[in-house]
Amino acid sequence: MISMNKKMTIRKFPDLEAISHHAAGIFSILSEEGISATGRFVVALAGGNTPQRFYAILGSDRYRDRIRWKEVHFFWGDERFVPHNHKDSNYLPVYESFLSRIPINHGNIHPVETGTNSPAISSEIYEREMRNFFQLKENEIPRFDLIILGIGKDGHTASLFPGDKVLGEETHLTAPVITVGTLHSRITITLPVINNARNVLFLVSGEEKASILKRVIDGPNLSLPASLVCPRNGRLTFIVDEKAGSLLQQR
Ligand code: 6PG
Repeated sequence: MISMNKKMTIRKFPDLEAISHHAAGIFSILSEEGISATGRFVVALAGGNTPQRFYAILGSDRYRDRIRWKEVHFFWGDERFVPHNHKDSNYLPVYESFLSRIPINHGNIHPVETGTNSPAISSEIYEREMRNFFQLKENEIPRFDLIILGIGKDGHTASLFPGDKVLGEETHLTAPVITVGTLHSRITITLPVINNARNVLFLVSGEEKASILKRVIDGPNLSLPASLVCPRNGRLTFIVDEKAGSLLQQR
């Protein structure tokens, strides 16, 4: 374990399999803590490839009776503006390998509604859903118990991309991210939401992430959105494999 400062912990494991099992263990512990303290455990999930094995482990028999699923609520940190049955949907793989396999009520699953006319409308609906769920007053920010994130090779996280104006968002909980070309437009939660979480867990795997992970850990850099994640009053943990963590100094 490498502790960088009070607010950041980095845990290194041999490979993606080990990361995924460790993250599932953390999920189990945090869910019990959260449910014992507040009666529920509210999570925002990530898209991308890295967390898929973690989701499958949580959906396996091993965790079926270990977690009080009926008290767990799932949101998404970001979603592509595609139907839920589209191959690029962030909802689809999570539902197939995880949520459809656990004893959870349908009402505990809060996907981004993508069957609307525009990402902006989907974003508005999602923000309203979050506000209602957390029973927020105007200007209040939700406090997620756990937000799972990944890091893109360009330093993006959730759908917060380098240079995007969404990075300066201070009041909205969610925002549309409009893209041109072949990339799908997206809906993302914003930095104020991420930085108000009780726990933020980055899962990072593979050699191609080594250099960006080092830069993200090295410190806040406006051109690397993942480096702007710094929960004010929460725990920030990086769970990385040997390859992704190969450039990190043991401190
Ligand atoms: C998404 C994301 C995104 C992802 C990173 C890392 O919808 O794609 O939520 O921020 O976490 O791009 O993705 P990989 O795990 O596939 O490298």
